[in-house]
Amino acid sequence: MMADEPLVLGIETSCDETGVGIVRGYTLLADAVASSVDQHARFGGVVPEVASRAHLEAMVPTVHRALDDAGVTLSDVDAIAVTAGPGLAGALLVGVAAAKAYSLALGKPLYGVNHLAAHVAVDTLEHGPLPEPAIAMLVSGGHSSLLLVDDLTGDVESLGATIDDAAGEAFDKVARVLGLPFPGGPPIDKAAREGDPAAIGFPRGLTGPRDLAEHRFDFSFSGLKTAVARWVETRQRSGEPVPVADVAASFQEAVADVLTAKAIDACRKHGVETLLIGGGVAANSRLRALAADRCEKAGIQLRVPRPKLCTDNGAMVAALGSRLVAAGIAPSPLDLPADSSLPVTEVVMAGRVGV
Ligand code: KG4
Ligand code: ZN
Repeated sequence: MMADEPLVLGIETSCDETGVGIVRGYTLLADAVASSVDQHARFGGVVPEVASRAHLEAMVPTVHRALDDAGVTLSDVDAIAVTAGPGLAGALLVGVAAAKAYSLALGKPLYGVNHLAAHVAVDTLEHGPLPEPAIAMLVSGGHSSLLLVDDLTGDVESLGATIDDAAGEAFDKVARVLGLPFPGGPPIDKAAREGDPAAIGFPRGLTGPRDLAEHRFDFSFSGLKTAVARWVETRQRSGEPVPVADVAASFQEAVADVLTAKAIDACRKHGVETLLIGGGVAANSRLRALAADRCEKAGIQLRVPRPKLCTDNGAMVAALGSRLVAAGIAPSPLDLPADSSLPVTEVVMAGRVGV
């Protein structure tokens, strides 16, 4: 680590995690996260207003915790990065407002960054500079996308995304059907270990010949979720017990199969040798194993950050900020807006006419 590399503070509030990360160069110094997930559990999904309020309460304490963990003070910070979108509008606003306040008070540049690009950037903290071009597959409760990353600091293209539910959302909804707690990914992953992934042939969305013509790199998980719910209902109606482990394993297999097949197809089509997987669902043990297996067979290098870096956090935002500073990219204006549907082509938010 070079002592004169800039110290970047990153703030993330796009969903239910208040994350503050501190990065110098490629080195992670702090990754403080306060989650409001427990407050959403009884609703079976994230409630935007509850998340915004929780961000407001957690923001300043989480910044202080990150500074303490890194052993630095606010005056050491050289730049501030914040998730400007995509995400929940009210939740994003809390982070963007806080970042603006710190930027103004400290007189340091502000980078409003793209949440999806930040999920890609975080991997550099664990595995070093990202070979470019790379394909990134981001799968979480809020998004499922395939990206072509030619340049992490400015040239990211969306190849496809979910046309209905996100992958993590499907895990959460299927867990509910099976009587497992929210968020559903971890308990399904656990239950699936005792089950047979071939027990039930659940549908693989958007993989038929006609779908592939129009949606080669898009995903659909809503049909799969409905198929699982129907299968479970039929069992319950006939008075038979529901084999939770087999349903979980078969569902998880369907998700992992489609995700890995499409990601590798994207690598092949674009002649890319590096696949990166991020987002909360990247913690899934079957997805990781199947991706490793299929990538090895296809001669593709697989990069998956450790689970704590896969889920939403501030380190990912600081990591992207650090790359932007190093590349000499211009900061965002202090009146930058939060944009709940910020396209991934906008890695860093530039000034906007009329705003
Ligand atoms: O990235 P994340 O923390 O937040 C966003 O949604 O942006 O992802 C949370 C999602 C939830 O839907 C959760 O069920 C899923 O990631 N998840 C998993 C696993 N761990 C978390 N899904 C499958 N298997 C897991 N082990
Ligand atoms: Zn995310």
